[in-house]
Amino acid sequence: MRALSLTLFGITLASADPLTFNTTPLGQKDRPIILRTYVPDPGLDPAVLSNHGEASKSPKYSPNSGRDVGGEYRMMKVIPAAIAVNHGPALSYVWDTTECRLLYSWQGGFLDLYPYWGEENRGGRRSFDYSARLVGNLFYMAQPIKREKPAFIGYDLSDQGVPTFHYKLGDTKYAETILPNDRQYSFVINQDSKKSTIKGKLISKHQGFDRNLKIKSATAKAGQQVFGAYGCVACHSADGSKGHGPSLKNLAGSTRPIEGNDPVLADAAYLTESIKNPNAKTAQGYPPGYMPPYQLKDKEIESLVLYIQSLAK
Ligand code: HEC
Repeated sequence: MRALSLTLFGITLASADPLTFNTTPLGQKDRPIILRTYVPDPGLDPAVLSNHGEASKSPKYSPNSGRDVGGEYRMMKVIPAAIAVNHGPALSYVWDTTECRLLYSWQGGFLDLYPYWGEENRGGRRSFDYSARLVGNLFYMAQPIKREKPAFIGYDLSDQGVPTFHYKLGDTKYAETILPNDRQYSFVINQDSKKSTIKGKLISKHQGFDRNLKIKSATAKAGQQVFGAYGCVACHSADGSKGHGPSLKNLAGSTRPIEGNDPVLADAAYLTESIKNPNAKTAQGYPPGYMPPYQLKDKEIESLVLYIQSLAK
């Protein structure tokens, strides 16, 4: 984190620590975070997005000359004007202000904004990939429905920052709140005080953008870099403090109690499996499905294991 003080037209805008370099932010179960950003279409039935217009090509423009220049802007396959909400690993969802409905939900992470939020040692944009990518397990996608043309009214926030979305179909107004519950691949939808529990099933796994770390040989130091770059740090501390996931301090070499199973020795094989296939065994005291699956390069995983082992010395 870094303190920022900006002078704009002679007015100083000062604020404590407005920037973090966590490009995979997470909210809390009771206190979500909301992001208004382009989100990907993870494969929705096109009929679900029937009120969205078609994107059209536009000529390239030069801010220096104030004129159109040769060429066209590439169209992006993104969903604009949607609202992305995250309640920690328990629930992420995208609610669309054009269709006025929930589009999809996932668990285990939120969005990866690496290309345009940059990274700590460099800052700034890395590429023009404006669509955030999903992190975690997608388990629900909206199906087409027949209804009147929707009109978005707005959303309000509870004291804990939980949004309620307001919209109209014809002359009828609706209010909708979406909440996590404690079950895997499930959430609660509260429409005009009528509660229903939605249960989905695993559709696809997502791990965000490749960080391209170019690790030559596996070391604990490289592992620390992977740990920061892929946002493990958002859920696991290295100092014993509790987070969304267990602290990794003193884990290596210990006997690990496992949910519904015999304890296991936290050796290199267990650590590797915990990263590649986090649902294989669930550490006691934590819900399953809260850790996103990572398909990292072998050297990255070996480095992570060395790093976790170095936290137990
Ligand atoms: C969104 C939160 C989240 C992120 C991000 C995350 N994990 Fe986890 N992790 C968990 C939770 C929750 C558990 C415990 C439940 C389980 O075992 O699946 C866990 C379990 C583990 C375990 C086994 C811990 C134990 O005490 O037995 C290891 C090792 C681990 N994670 C490593 C990583 C690494 C390395 C990364 C980054 C590449 C990472 N995790 C990213 C949430 C997360």
